[in-house]
Amino acid sequence: MSFDLNHYLSERRGLVEAELARLSRLPALVHGSTGQVPKTLADAMNYSLLAGGKRLRPILAMAGCEALGQKPERALRFGCAVEMIHTYSLIHDDLPAMDNDDFRRGRPTNHKVYGEAMAILAGDALLTDAFALALQSDAPAEVLVDLVRELSFSAGSPGMVGGQVVDVEATGKPVDLALLRGLHAMKTGALFDVSLRGGARLGGATADQLVAIRTYAQALGLAFQIVDDVLDVTQDLAQLGKDPGSDREAGKTTYVDLLGVEGAMTQARKVMDEGIAALAPFGTHAEPLRALGNYTVDRKN
Ligand code: IPE
Ligand code: IPE
Ligand code: MG
Ligand code: MG
Ligand code: MG
Repeated sequence: MSFDLNHYLSERRGLVEAELARLSRLPALVHGSTGQVPKTLADAMNYSLLAGGKRLRPILAMAGCEALGQKPERALRFGCAVEMIHTYSLIHDDLPAMDNDDFRRGRPTNHKVYGEAMAILAGDALLTDAFALALQSDAPAEVLVDLVRELSFSAGSPGMVGGQVVDVEATGKPVDLALLRGLHAMKTGALFDVSLRGGARLGGATADQLVAIRTYAQALGLAFQIVDDVLDVTQDLAQLGKDPGSDREAGKTTYVDLLGVEGAMTQARKVMDEGIAALAPFGTHAEPLRALGNYTVDRKN
């Protein structure tokens, strides 16, 4: 019987939405009962965090855990911590000083509703609070220390933020495939990598297994961003939930500029197939990861 991805995605999205809703009702849960959060800040954080989105990073964290034959729920909190960091990165990415976009996750962007100062602060709070949530995973202290170190690396200057800087500095300049590949690996690949490796670590992965997961994760991150570049020119606002044509308007070089839509899609498929091949040692436990890899290339939003 073939793997029912639609059923799998809706079940896993349900787990993620329930966990995020729990956190939003009780912000003090993240920091303990002493936490007092200003209402406007909580509203601005929840506006973007609870706006839907594909929830791919927490779903991948859970699938990484499942690849080790463990229950997906073990990686739910860690995955939601990555989703908080991802959401902050989107709020800041949309700011006038960056991509200057008006729509995200089917809604006006955070700064359009709450103003730039509150959008910056909501992003800051999502990033910072994510570390408290990651520490609430049910795992031995030495595992938690590793997870938090990797989260900081992947989100920080050598990871997502570093990638956004390369993106900003490359805007309006000639860019070749090697630079674009490195940029995508940092700005997008790093958060996928930490989701998957964190989930696998919580599932008890060995060092060799973590290497195999990394090969898959890096391929998935690159394929994901290549397809994001393609969707930016092939889809509309209703389908994407965010502004199409944003890359060209902002003077960004993308995979589509360098390879064309067909060439970019062929490249995404090739990269993803190589990543999926690295999952062989996990046998049938990795079936969700294989399906999620294919979905990353075939998705329409
Ligand atoms: C968008 O990520 C930003 C990129 C890294 C390209 P997603 O396409 O996963 O956004 P959501 O979470 O579904 O809104
Ligand atoms: C941004 O890439 C990735 C992040 C780190 C937020 P994009 O600028 O292409 O993301 P979208 O297309 O606005 O979602
Ligand atoms: Mg951007
Ligand atoms: Mg953008
Ligand atoms: Mg994009």
